[in-house]
Amino acid sequence: MLYDSQGLIMREIGVGLLGLGVVGSEVANILLQRSGRLSEQVGASVSVKRILVRDPNKQRPFPFPATLLTTDVSEILGDPSIDIVVELIGGEQPALDYMKKAITNCKHVVTANKEVIAKMGFKMLSLAAQHGVDLRYEASVCSGIPILSPLQQDLAANEINAIRAIVNGTTNYILTKMAREGLPYEQALRQAQELGYAETDPTNDVEGIDATYKLAILASLAFHTPVRPSSIYRQGISGLDPKDFTYAHELGYSVKLLAIAKRQGDALEARVHPTLTSLETQLATVDGVYNAVQIEGDLVGTLMFYGRGAGGGPTSSTVVADVLTIARSIAMEGIIRPRIELNRRIPVIPMADIQTRYYFRLSVADQPGVLAQIARVLGDHRISISSVIQKELDPDAQTAQVVILTHPSVEQSVQSAVAELAALPLINHVGALIRVEH
Ligand code: NAP
Ligand code: HSE
Repeated sequence: MLYDSQGLIMREIGVGLLGLGVVGSEVANILLQRSGRLSEQVGASVSVKRILVRDPNKQRPFPFPATLLTTDVSEILGDPSIDIVVELIGGEQPALDYMKKAITNCKHVVTANKEVIAKMGFKMLSLAAQHGVDLRYEASVCSGIPILSPLQQDLAANEINAIRAIVNGTTNYILTKMAREGLPYEQALRQAQELGYAETDPTNDVEGIDATYKLAILASLAFHTPVRPSSIYRQGISGLDPKDFTYAHELGYSVKLLAIAKRQGDALEARVHPTLTSLETQLATVDGVYNAVQIEGDLVGTLMFYGRGAGGGPTSSTVVADVLTIARSIAMEGIIRPRIELNRRIPVIPMADIQTRYYFRLSVADQPGVLAQIARVLGDHRISISSVIQKELDPDAQTAQVVILTHPSVEQSVQSAVAELAALPLINHVGALIRVEH
């Protein structure tokens, strides 16, 4: 039993955790170790009642009392002393069913699960509203950076024009290691996994799936329209070649996996792909596990949110903050929920119609007339060249690398031109096609 500063018994708010992995272990440890201080901040005793795991005998990073662990989810979802359920299992199922059950049992829910929120979040929020409970998900996007709350509250007066963001810590870590230390892709990925940054299935990180979930959440809240992850164009980082990092740097760019959502008239661009980002921009300097979200609002101008985008510590900072926000509302006997208005219907522009600048690298036969052929194909597709550089002559193989930067061009034309170039006898290989953000 806890007493407040006036010696009165504090109300107890019960917390049940689902999952005790990278994030769950940190969250449980903070709630247990800092219980006194956190309870004083809230004005009620915040108490961990039960933790769901798959394997109760697994070695954990902190020594949790065995009596807290259970493999039976009904001991949490059906326990009337538990007010807040914290879902940290990840993936769509059984996490979604457990969260729905918690809500229908009138328990508040906190989650870091971007997949469930991106696909089902707004249905879950109306389910929560029907049952008079809160659903908070700040840690689902950019882990330790508070971004969803500012977007919904502090920036509410703005019309948002654009979001450009680095939202995946694993890929940013890999790209930084490849560019700065020349580390092979596989080794950099292994390090990110060992550090607890990667998803259970790292394909979600490296193929940009995790980033599309996060962009779907950000763009829906920013533009007040439902943006489905499936409507977002996606290209991951697995096809990048170390050569491209070197050439990009020489041209004044860094290669980043950017999540971009922009207003274009009555429609929206929404895409996730490796992007040449000018070294003069703040986004190009975001390295390692750090994430950054750049927001353009019509009133506020350009804002940049920056911090650690993955890992148990930063994520637990945000998850525990959500738990405390709900606990404070319970203690004050009034839940204040931000209203989510997705009352606009803004279509997403098909990727084929997007206009931007492009970088691509061709491995060509080192023979007269090659550049003229390339220029002809690009000209036929109305693609204007901004710069062309011939690199790395290989006298034995009689090949050379040609790097091309275009002026703004239409995606469909560039794709057709690249396919035509790849079929030319003098062109051995067309390397990565990387879009340029300017
Ligand atoms: P994790 O290390 O894989 O932990 C998952 C936990 O869930 C484990 O404790 C596991 O139990 C438990 N679990 C899995 N399936 C279960 C099932 N069917 N029934 C009961 N328990 C089950 O994952 P994590 O990295 O902590 O991520 C958790 C969530 O946070 C995910 O939604 C992730 O996307 C999100 N997130 C993670 C990070 C990060 O940096 N890691 C950052 C932001 C958000 P056992 O331990 O017994 O196997
Ligand atoms: N795997 C995710 C990342 C965790 O690397 O960004 C944070 O959401």
